[in-house]
Amino acid sequence: HRTIRVAVIEGDGIGPELIESATTVMTRAVRGAGITLDLVTERGGAGLYAETGDNLEPGALDRFRNNVDAVLKGPVGLPQVRRPDGTEAGLLGGVLRTGLDTYANVRPVRLLPGVRTPTIHRPGDIDYVIVRENTEGLYLSRGLGVGTRDACVDQLFVSRAGVDRVARFAFELARTRDGAPADGTRRVTLVDKSKVLRSFALFREVTIEVAAEYPDVELDFRYSDAAAHDLVMTPRHFDVVLTENFVGDLLSDLGAATVGGLGMCPSGNIGLGTSYFEPVHGSAPGIAGRDLANPISQILSAAMLLEHLGAAEAAGRVRRAVESALADGAVQIEPTGCPRGGTRAVTSAVLDHLP
Ligand code: NAD
Ligand code: IPM
Ligand code: MN
Repeated sequence: HRTIRVAVIEGDGIGPELIESATTVMTRAVRGAGITLDLVTERGGAGLYAETGDNLEPGALDRFRNNVDAVLKGPVGLPQVRRPDGTEAGLLGGVLRTGLDTYANVRPVRLLPGVRTPTIHRPGDIDYVIVRENTEGLYLSRGLGVGTRDACVDQLFVSRAGVDRVARFAFELARTRDGAPADGTRRVTLVDKSKVLRSFALFREVTIEVAAEYPDVELDFRYSDAAAHDLVMTPRHFDVVLTENFVGDLLSDLGAATVGGLGMCPSGNIGLGTSYFEPVHGSAPGIAGRDLANPISQILSAAMLLEHLGAAEAAGRVRRAVESALADGAVQIEPTGCPRGGTRAVTSAVLDHLP
């Protein structure tokens, strides 16, 4: 028998509704797998900032590092909660990704049976994973932008060490992940703009060096503009997509649009220490508190957490429950991205489908 200790951040907007759904499903799923789940609540995000001037409680980072096996995070942020420099105050991307050094942001994009897509594709056609470099790139400039009221500059930082570790992660994932492209080739596609920017040229140079150590995995390239086109038009080509932080941010929302919306897409922020798991999307304030949001992104993030901690059976139970509820029509995703019947109806349907 095993106990898994997870810190839970409910977050803002639709966060609490999603976390309620995901923790309910997760708790039920681990029970069947002989695991006890110990959930510890931590506050974080824009609501907390507005109240206290901090977006995490004192000591929270150390508790994440030392006291728990992983963190399950709801979306955070409220557009109106801002810093004097005009950026949002309630976001945790910087503090958690840097603080926990979670250098690989893993974002699976999968079209599941029963889910409609605006393109001609079918389940099996869209099954790739974006590996977004998570500690450097354009977003390293967070809080460091300089300028005046008339002109500002942010810089895009890429280091050899930073690319080396995330590229290795991408190649290892290509070797081991379930679901390779139809032709059976294991592939890493590097997405960059190396013909224009020096930082991206370094990203490409280091990735090519790392690729030499993985002769069984094919490396190919797309420029970021063409990648946006091809992810929509020829998604079958893609297996693992490796890219810089900002480009990965954009492409993961684009990918979500092809598989039923943002509410379908989970993610893991993975490092050598404590990792954390969250939906790809934000706090969706426009639909918050009304039992409208799709909780599947959060439920599948919980499955990724379990998988990461070696609880593969429990993770599989969660994933299969979601997939069968979609496949038999118990859960239907409207073209708006919201589920028919609402958030709680999805939770009950997924619970009903737990093996
Ligand atoms: P968003 O992702 O919150 O919403 C974009 C669109 O997708 C909206 O139409 C929203 O209603 C819809 N949507 C999102 N999740 C959904 C779900 N589960 N089910 C159904 N529909 C869903 O992006 P935004 O509006 O640009 O940002 C809102 C806030 O979230 C901002 O404060 C932003 O900074 C923050 N944000 C946080 C994270 C995070 O915590 N990781 C990620 C992105 C945005
Ligand atoms: C994401 C989000 C965050 C990011 C924002 C909210 C800071 O968009 O996780 O995709 O890109 O860093
Ligand atoms: Mn994003």
